[in-house]
Amino acid sequence: MAFFTKKTQGGRNIYLALDIGTEVVKALVCMSEGTKGRIIGVGKQQQKLGDMQCGAVTDIGGVIYNCQKAIKEAERMAGVSTIQMIMGIAGELVKGATTTLSYSRREPSTKIDLAELKNIVHKIQWKAFDKVRSELAFETGFNEIDVKLVNAAIVAVQIDGYKVGNPIGFQGKDVDISIFNAFAPLVHFGALQTIGAELNKELMAVTAEPYAVARCMDITDGGNFSSIFIDIGGGTTDIAVVNNGSVDGTRMFNLGGRTFTKRLAQSLNVSFNEAEDVKISYSNDKLEKQSHKIVREAMKSDCEVWLSGVALTLAEFEDTDVLPAKIMLCGGGALLPEIKEVLETREWFKKLPFARKPQIGFIEPQMVSNMVDETKRLKGAQDITPMALANLGLEYVGEEQVLSKILKKIVRLMQI
Ligand SMILES: Nc1ncnc2c1ncn2[C@@H]1O[C@H](COP(=O)(O)OP(=O)(O)OP(=O)(O)O)[C@@H](O)[C@H]1O
Ligand SMILES: [Mg+2]
Repeated sequence: MAFFTKKTQGGRNIYLALDIGTEVVKALVCMSEGTKGRIIGVGKQQQKLGDMQCGAVTDIGGVIYNCQKAIKEAERMAGVSTIQMIMGIAGELVKGATTTLSYSRREPSTKIDLAELKNIVHKIQWKAFDKVRSELAFETGFNEIDVKLVNAAIVAVQIDGYKVGNPIGFQGKDVDISIFNAFAPLVHFGALQTIGAELNKELMAVTAEPYAVARCMDITDGGNFSSIFIDIGGGTTDIAVVNNGSVDGTRMFNLGGRTFTKRLAQSLNVSFNEAEDVKISYSNDKLEKQSHKIVREAMKSDCEVWLSGVALTLAEFEDTDVLPAKIMLCGGGALLPEIKEVLETREWFKKLPFARKPQIGFIEPQMVSNMVDETKRLKGAQDITPMALANLGLEYVGEEQVLSKILKKIVRLMQI
């Protein structure tokens, strides 16, 4: 009898945030309370080496099994089941960029109403969509039809140079809208949709993870916050650049924690799993002196390669005049001490448009200030990405703002 089952079905304010990482699937059960949310269940499941590579699914069945395990664990802890979820997509080929386009109003003295706003957003989003999609198709060699829209979000609106939150009711001539669009190749996007369907959850959104990470900190200083976010996972390093409160773009490259473990396995002539244990002990400073030295030596050259990956990727942000002099790290891979060390001690930043030497820090779970972790299980860099997804999920559960509502309808049309 349904009355006596322990687990109750959660209401519409309960949702799941699912981060399908190359190395670990992470599931969070969350409860939204307006603009804030509470995390009430956590589940994690290690993936097998063959399940995913570089953020892309290589064994759909294997990944589904791992997701189910992580979700079950999270739901058991929360004591409720979820019906809706937000899912993250990462990987080398996800590309996101913000495009700012201008719309000139024929009658500046009339006030903008809902119908006109719909029309403006529609026109601008189609233009932005075509632009970013053709860039990605060009860069990856994929056919344009095989490139799918993952998500879109309005980052800023200006009317005649003034920033506004909701343009309805305003007069003025030029409406500038900045829209962030993230795309992924069909194979990758399709795999995630299949997984979503198999998990039997209503998909609120599939979102680009670097975008979620870039948005995870509550920006209170008047929207002028600027930072570079780097998420170092098992398979990929994802980079997002945020300038003056808006996400300029996101990029990634195929190097992550697994690369270091593989190197260690080779140098020490041990299995991948043994090397992983050694690496974690090394990171936690648990190795005796001689072993510590050997591991450090093995990590060194790969860290330099990783650093050049960061520099090359940042050089690709051609539209960014000045790079933010602040770097925030997250992802399990960021815990390797050499990562922060190379960023701080090498001269890599000199060839890039930084105004000064960037400061390096970690995103801590409490910095994701809209999400309160009631489970006390979320402690480190590895937990930030799922928390960032949970934070973004709040927007989909809560009452929608007029602009995002309009955009979401257009996005749905574009995803067909
Ligand atoms: N203390 C630590 N020191 C060094 N590396 C660590 C530590 N803890 C975790 N890692 C590494 O972090 C990686 C996993 O991080 P994370 O869970 O963020 O990746 P993921 O989200 O599964 O992967 P991706 O984001 O690339 O898809 C593994 O390679 C693991 O070895
Ligand atoms: Mg990850």
